[in-house]
Amino acid sequence: MTKIVAIVSVKGGVGKTLVSLNIALRLAEQTTAALIDADIDNANFSQFTGIDTMNIKLEGSRSIMLPLWRENIKVFSMSLLAGRRRGISITNEDAANLVADVLRRSDARYMDTVIVDMPPGAGTIFRKVLETAADDFLGSVLVSQPAMMDSTIKTLEIHSKLDIPVLGLVENMAYIDIDGKRYHPFGEPVGEEICSKYGYKYYGAIPIVLDMYDRIKKGNPYIESPVLDEIARDILSKEPQRATWLEKVRNMVLIPIKEHIEQILVNTILKIQREFDLTDLQKEFSLTDEMPFELNIVTEDFSKIITSVKLRVKKGKLVVVKDVEPAFKIYTDIRTLARILTGVYKANDGSLKPYDPLDAWLMGKIRVTGEGFLPKAIAVMSLITNTRVKEIINKFYNILINYV
Ligand SMILES: Nc1ncnc2c1ncn2[C@@H]1O[C@H](COP(=O)(O)OP(=O)(O)OP(=O)(O)O)[C@@H](O)[C@H]1O
Ligand SMILES: [Mg+2]
Repeated sequence: MTKIVAIVSVKGGVGKTLVSLNIALRLAEQTTAALIDADIDNANFSQFTGIDTMNIKLEGSRSIMLPLWRENIKVFSMSLLAGRRRGISITNEDAANLVADVLRRSDARYMDTVIVDMPPGAGTIFRKVLETAADDFLGSVLVSQPAMMDSTIKTLEIHSKLDIPVLGLVENMAYIDIDGKRYHPFGEPVGEEICSKYGYKYYGAIPIVLDMYDRIKKGNPYIESPVLDEIARDILSKEPQRATWLEKVRNMVLIPIKEHIEQILVNTILKIQREFDLTDLQKEFSLTDEMPFELNIVTEDFSKIITSVKLRVKKGKLVVVKDVEPAFKIYTDIRTLARILTGVYKANDGSLKPYDPLDAWLMGKIRVTGEGFLPKAIAVMSLITNTRVKEIINKFYNILINYV
């Protein structure tokens, strides 16, 4: 059974690749391992290992046979396909599909452990890897550097708000010992404190390795570190949280979702119709009378529409319309709607934390189609968070809170 682990940081250059290689080396001593370099346009596996070309073969039209690094680690990197210095400019979608193909169709999936070295950021490739790995996903190992506190918090926030399992955080290049004295050129480690706020495990700090460049030049990126040993041990001993995930899905199915959403939506819309004067909003976002929009509540993976309503703001009043072509469409899922309405989300430790509606958009949980309509869509969504719909929230709180 495969366990997939992502090595993540929204900030570039903090050591994701070095940590990935080191974890893969440790895992391969005890089990079968694969290492997927998910950075397509800046793939740097070759740079770290000195290996320029290795054959990535196709078996039939479906199976991708990955080459071995160090005799026992299956590797994929664009640098092995294209060469280490060949420039690449393909769309994020194409890059993400390529990585997904490797995860689904290469012999990496027969390995016990798969390490995915992510590109910096949390966009298309990151989301695609999580979606593709799904049930086999063990968790993310977050990599940071002490000076990059804001980026570290961003990375933790994304995992917390998108319910992505986290194995723990490791702080790289955190210190250096010279002549018995410890220096912190990038500042004192801050990871432990940040992790405790989110309920995530803090693995510890990795020092700056003075001769790293030489080691890499010799094709040996290994770093001796009890912290890296512990991460490998954790990966070997843990299992993907399938049960918890199934439980979640089961809970969702037990509740008659569609009925609830419709009740909540109808009540919210009626309340807005009765009590809201939207003239200012209409002016501010130039929502003309002729600009109907469609609000779609979709499943969490955005693949199916659960329920849908067409609306228009007319002379400052929200009205439900039929048989019109919407100028823009808003898509969001029930969990996001519940979070927006209640203003909270359930963190991985079970506690309720504040949820800003802007998060819904920032986390890709509200999608808008129709160019230039995003500000309008945000205005519409933030409208329903106005304190004046509190009554509805109170009425449906017990239902809504199940979803956050
Ligand atoms: N602990 C360390 N000691 C010394 N050098 C290090 C250490 N960790 C990383 N480096 C060096 O810092 C640079 C950045 O590391 P690396 O490429 O692993 O970061 P990254 O997060 O994968 O970057 P990117 O976001 O570009 O993929 C590399 O040159 C690497 O050799
Ligand atoms: Mg990298």
